[in-house]
Amino acid sequence: MDELIKLRATCVLKCLALTVLSVLSLSPAAAGDETEQLLLEKFRAGNYSSSGADTCLRCHDDAATAASFLQSVHGDTASPHGPMAKLQCETCHGPRGKHRGRNEPMIQFGASANVSPELQNSVCLSCHMQDADESWHLGTHDIEDLACADCHQVHAANDPIRDPVGQVTKCTSCHLEQRAAMNKRSHHPLAGAQAGSVMTCVSCHNPHGSLSEADLNSVSLNDNCVGCHAEFRGPVLWEHEPVVEDCSTCHEPHGSVNDALLAQRAPQLCQGCHASDGHVSRVLDNSSDAFVAGQSCLNCHSQVHGSNHPSGALLSQ
Ligand code: HEC
Ligand code: HEC
Ligand code: HEC
Ligand code: HEC
Ligand code: HEC
Ligand code: HEC
Ligand code: HEC
Ligand code: HEC
Ligand code: HEC
Ligand code: HEC
Repeated sequence: MDELIKLRATCVLKCLALTVLSVLSLSPAAAGDETEQLLLEKFRAGNYSSSGADTCLRCHDDAATAASFLQSVHGDTASPHGPMAKLQCETCHGPRGKHRGRNEPMIQFGASANVSPELQNSVCLSCHMQDADESWHLGTHDIEDLACADCHQVHAANDPIRDPVGQVTKCTSCHLEQRAAMNKRSHHPLAGAQAGSVMTCVSCHNPHGSLSEADLNSVSLNDNCVGCHAEFRGPVLWEHEPVVEDCSTCHEPHGSVNDALLAQRAPQLCQGCHASDGHVSRVLDNSSDAFVAGQSCLNCHSQVHGSNHPSGALLSQ
């Protein structure tokens, strides 16, 4: 690995090939595949075309591949760190070798990939260590074998995932449960569900992975919530235990058929924890009772998130 790092510093042009090679040699399972073996041979041979993108564009001159790519960040010829300053198309697709069609493969990504996600991603990560690598290998999407190109469109002039609506649409193309939830009666104002909103899944989650549960952006679930809902940060004089522990005990972050994203309505919500003895049992018996009318328990215990009132022990003021 040390050797690789040294080489990366001295030999910019061959560094990508080496990164890919190192992944292949570390991962015998991936290397077993025939196409990957062939691409490995091509990397060893290192037969890059002498005129870079010009060679490729002779044949690949369709608008989707060429024109939009040249308008994208990666097609920027002025960027000193981008692919165009390096091996151009072959930075990502590997050395041309004898490729002039189906006779010899090039590395393909995303939906039509011909190599493992790990190998595809090693190409991207060779430049994007800081953006994605630190948490990427801790995250669920890496464990689930997602490729960078499952979310990112490198050849589009503007990657749709950088737009809020495009982003939510992309996430919910796989996450159908969350797509259904965000259209329920009570929901966070996500782009796509609420016109003009810029809130997205990424307001709460890091798609590149994180150390927290559910790949949240924050160190804990409650930290995530109070990051925006600061009024519930606490501490308060009279705490309500479940609030301090986990907001999602009562709330469904993605959407709910009940008001205020509640998992259940009061009194059922409250009775899940509070035994129906004493005054509480009356709630079950008589539906015209003051205990169940309107907001039921909340009619009296209105400070369900905790109270700072000197006599707020019962969360009633
Ligand atoms: C930054 C890495 C990168 C560079 C540089 C790059 N490509 Fe791509 N290419 C991709 C990815 C990723 C895809 C998959 C589709 C997408 O993400 O838009 C792709 C798709 C393609 C496809 C379509 C294959 C398919 O899977 O449908 C062709 C052809 C292609 N690229 C040719 C080129 C040519 C020619 C150049 C140079 C002008 C080039 N690429 C530069 C990453 C790159
Ligand atoms: C002599 C013409 C020619 C040249 C030069 C050429 N290609 Fe191709 N390439 C093709 C043909 C033909 C295909 C097969 C396309 C098909 O069947 O749809 C292909 C397929 C591909 C694919 C797979 C995508 C697909 O649709 O199958 C990629 C990626 C690719 N080429 C990248 C490159 C890159 C990068 C270069 C430059 C280093 C390059 N090609 C140079 C003709 C060429
Ligand atoms: C040769 C280095 C290099 C490689 C390889 C590379 N990138 Fe990039 N990428 C860059 C540079 C440079 C930028 C522009 C960074 C900036 O402006 O801060 C960029 C920007 C991006 C962005 C932000 C785009 C935007 O709209 O602002 C995304 C997403 C991205 N790359 C994804 C990828 C993916 C996915 C791959 C692999 C298919 C890849 N990159 C391969 C160098 C590279
Ligand atoms: C699950 C979808 C998903 C996957 C997989 C994914 N990304 Fe991203 N990526 C995003 C989203 C969403 C953003 C936009 C974040 C934002 O706008 O704040 C992003 C942003 C980026 C950026 C721009 C960062 C910036 O600060 O501007 C880069 C670079 C990038 N991703 C690279 C990668 C690389 C490399 C991989 C693979 C190792 C990858 N991504 C995998 C969803 C994904
Ligand atoms: C190509 C499909 C795909 C796309 C696109 C995708 N994901 Fe995922 N994601 C998965 C899979 C598979 C899992 C693991 C199974 C599960 O939890 O559903 C997962 C898991 C997750 C998890 C749970 C993490 C955990 O540790 O429990 C979160 C959060 C997540 N994705 C957010 C996102 C966000 C945000 C986006 C859009 C930026 C996105 N996903 C786009 C496939 C995808
Ligand atoms: C307001 C913050 C927030 C937003 C916005 C958000 N999530 Fe979540 N998500 C969470 C929290 C908190 C959890 C973990 C606890 C839970 O599911 O109750 C979670 C869990 C998940 C999980 C794992 C679910 C499981 O059952 O393990 C997935 C997948 C997921 N979110 C995807 C998404 C997608 C896709 C979007 C956008 C449509 C999104 N989330 C928007 C906060 C959010
Ligand atoms: C990125 C900021 C952000 C984060 C993080 C966030 N919220 Fe929200 N939340 C909002 C916005 C914006 C609204 C809608 C406007 C409002 O009512 O303040 C909202 C509304 C709500 C509502 C009222 C919904 C309704 O239908 O009346 C509840 C309940 C809620 N959030 C709970 C949570 C919980 C629980 C978490 C943590 C899992 C969380 N929020 C994380 C921004 C956020
Ligand atoms: C014991 C159940 C419970 C827990 C745990 C809980 N809430 Fe609530 N929350 C409720 C109920 C009931 C309502 C609706 C009645 C009301 O407005 O007080 C509500 C309403 C809300 C609202 C919308 C109304 C408003 O006052 O703005 C937000 C935002 C909210 N909660 C955020 C949070 C956050 C953040 C946490 C974690 C720190 C949390 N909740 C934990 C029960 C709970
Ligand atoms: C996840 C379980 C849980 C849920 C759901 C829950 N609580 Fe609690 N609640 C507790 C715990 C634990 C305490 C602390 C009990 C103790 O100290 O004896 C508490 C304390 C209270 C107290 C203070 C009385 C006391 O003895 O300290 C009131 C009042 C109360 N809850 C009302 C409600 C209401 C109203 C709801 C529904 C909106 C509700 N709770 C939902 C677990 C829950
Ligand atoms: C009409 C007002 C009112 C309503 C409605 C009400 N409470 Fe109470 N609650 C009180 C008062 C007053 C006390 C203190 C005296 C007592 O114990 O009866 C109390 C005490 C409590 C306590 C602490 C004492 C104990 O029994 O452990 C809890 C927990 C509690 N209520 C939960 C609930 C729940 C859950 C609901 C809804 C199912 C509810 N309350 C509905 C007025 C109300």
